[in-house]
Amino acid sequence: MGIFTGNSALIFGAGRNIGRAIAREFARRGARVGIADLDFEGATEAAALIQAEGGQAIALRCDVTSSDSLREAAAAAEAALGEIGIVMNNAGLLHSGNPEDFPFSEWERMIGCNLMGMVRSLEIFLPKMLARGSGHIVNTASFAGLYPYAASRIPYAVSKAGVISLSENLAIYAIPKGVRVSCFCPGPVMTTSPHGMKIFSANVPMRGPGGHLWLKSQEEVATILAEGMEAGRIMIPTHPEVRATLLEWAASPDDFIHKQIASFEAGNIGQPQVDRAKFGL
Ligand SMILES: NC(=O)c1ccc[n+]([C@@H]2O[C@H](COP(=O)([O-])OP(=O)(O)OC[C@H]3O[C@@H](n4cnc5c(N)ncnc54)[C@H](O)[C@@H]3O)[C@@H](O)[C@H]2O)c1
Repeated sequence: MGIFTGNSALIFGAGRNIGRAIAREFARRGARVGIADLDFEGATEAAALIQAEGGQAIALRCDVTSSDSLREAAAAAEAALGEIGIVMNNAGLLHSGNPEDFPFSEWERMIGCNLMGMVRSLEIFLPKMLARGSGHIVNTASFAGLYPYAASRIPYAVSKAGVISLSENLAIYAIPKGVRVSCFCPGPVMTTSPHGMKIFSANVPMRGPGGHLWLKSQEEVATILAEGMEAGRIMIPTHPEVRATLLEWAASPDDFIHKQIASFEAGNIGQPQVDRAKFGL
């Protein structure tokens, strides 16, 4: 029996795209799932999909930028699903712009959601899990937090680097106390997240993690996450090729950055390869 069977999972930011695919994957593997999202309609649709597939799911309205809202969603999830064994912090915002064009308020909005949303969730669930000596915390980061390329969205990259540091250090602290920690680290994934993102500068190309990577589907990365969690993994990147990139970066961050500058100046913005037929494009 795996870690999902008979367990309860609460996922923040699961109303659409990657979070929704993960909720479906967890449910398929036997978890009761709470789908908490700012977009309650999306969460309701996701829960209905899971129920139609024979799974158990509830939709919850939640804004991870408010501790009160998180507390209410957590209490409602516990009342409906029982003790929460898996908490996944996946809610995230995206934006685009040059660093001089992001106002201070945008830095606060980005970090307040992508990083501090997790801290608010931890404040509720970590003490309970430590007291029980069991549980699993999963935080969604990004390749943008692993190595430098996302110069067209620096506050986003900073928030995700914070998520990686939070998760790695929490793992050192919590795993010996019985609480598992995983950091889900997506590379390029086909989603609609760029639609409707806030744009702060005109004509800024969306710099990507590199042309050596292929765009993956939401279902593929949801399976990679679930299998990584089953295997007890801490860092769970969606593309194993990232290891070579990280080794290159670690060998000389200066050389790596200069190579990125040269590559961008030559007109390569690091966009991934896309199998157009796979995505019906
Ligand atoms: N798509 C990619 O290629 C990619 C790559 C790396 C990392 N990621 C990360 O994966 C996660 C999911 O990405 P996605 O592409 O599915 O994004 P998405 O924008 O489609 O989904 C994010 C979800 O979070 C919800 N959300 C936003 N603000 C919220 C708030 N304050 N409270 C509660 N919910 C809120 C949204 O309503 C949405 O359902 C994000 O954390 C993102 O940064 C995505």
